Amino acid sequence: MKTLKEFFSSWFLSTPQSKRRIVILISGRGSNMQALLEKIKHGKLRAQCTLVVSDRKAKGLEIAKNFGVRSELFEKQKGEAREAFDKRLAERLKREKPDLIVCAGYLRILSSPMLQAFPNRIVNIHPALLPAFPGLNAQKQALDYGVKITGCTVHWVDSGVDTGKILAQASVPVLAQDTEATLSARILKAEHALYWKTVETLLCGMEVRSV
Ligand code: GRF
Repeated sequence: MKTLKEFFSSWFLSTPQSKRRIVILISGRGSNMQALLEKIKHGKLRAQCTLVVSDRKAKGLEIAKNFGVRSELFEKQKGEAREAFDKRLAERLKREKPDLIVCAGYLRILSSPMLQAFPNRIVNIHPALLPAFPGLNAQKQALDYGVKITGCTVHWVDSGVDTGKILAQASVPVLAQDTEATLSARILKAEHALYWKTVETLLCGMEVRSV
């Protein structure tokens, strides 16, 4: 005889929402990926991560494995052009039939084979309040500029660098004594809180207004 808790969790797990499939792309330590996998594990983000892909040997691949999630190293071959790499990647990812592809610290700019294979189905998180401070070292850019508020942005991925439509943002203060490291840590905490909620909202088919 099932307990009430078991009954409800098996009912929840059999709903279509739990079948929503995501793939996560990483290049490094994978803390955003970890935050997403934790929310999936605890049933807050109602999705399954079918695959984590890294374009380089990364700590995040090990973390994914520890969550019991399939993870693959998918490296660029010597002399391979960006489009050719993305064509191979798109072919691989199509096999996962993802509802959403979630870039979490993925360091490659996606080109047309990926964008055409998954139109409006690739999201990214950036550590600044876009359109301010796109590209690399966004936290340092914010400090150098002297802004008093910065934050993070979840956006659709298009062919530009952090130029896709903005889906959600969270702000954090910049303190007088901040270094790049302290500011980055504050923003990262906000990223971990923002990303899963935005992904959950997107997977619900709802327009993201605020999270
Ligand atoms: C995050 O700051 C994210 O906004 C940026 O790259 C960093 C990745 O960190 N795109 P992690 O690998 O998720 O820890």
